[in-house]
Amino acid sequence: MTWTSLLLLLVTGACLIVYFNAEKKKRLEGVRQGESVGRAAIGGPFSLTNHEGRAVTEKDFVGMWNLLYFGFTFCPDICPDELRKMAGAIEALEKKKGIKVRPIFVSVDPERDGVEQVRDYVKGFHPRMVGLTGSMDAVKAAAKQYRVYFMKTDDDKDNYLIDHSIIMYLMDPKMEFVKFFGRNHTVDSLTDGIAEEILSWEEKTK
Ligand code: NI
Repeated sequence: MTWTSLLLLLVTGACLIVYFNAEKKKRLEGVRQGESVGRAAIGGPFSLTNHEGRAVTEKDFVGMWNLLYFGFTFCPDICPDELRKMAGAIEALEKKKGIKVRPIFVSVDPERDGVEQVRDYVKGFHPRMVGLTGSMDAVKAAAKQYRVYFMKTDDDKDNYLIDHSIIMYLMDPKMEFVKFFGRNHTVDSLTDGIAEEILSWEEKTK
């Protein structure tokens, strides 16, 4: 099963919107619910730098639920929209359902997204949001682990946009993949979807 075969990619504005073929999505969800194949396919080791300038790996995120999103701070509209949605769901999960999930933003634009840039950016969305960046190689490796696509749209040194996958990844407290959420979600559906996954996970691991 290749990821490219699952995705129909459409370029809109600054970002790349990913639509999942409904049938194949169902099949993937079946895999997720049944075997470990789907889990193994997404996520894995990475070495990045957080918004406080500290070197971190995936192991630093073990012990808590995590919601990961890859984007870039100069993204004019889609990333801010998605991160506002993410922050809204994180708030709703905590306040309405008593579930704490850590929001994580991973930059796919390390050339412009230095530690300070990322720190200022994540602060604007949620006080607990973690921002990650790193060398281009480290970011590429992390993106590969999550099957995230990203590519500059032009070669202008300072003024460029980046096409990238628009997906949030829910990772369990072992940093193992549980479910992805596409751009079609609202704050409410994201909140409910995440809560449902966490409750059923807790039920299973009791
Ligand atoms: Ni974006």
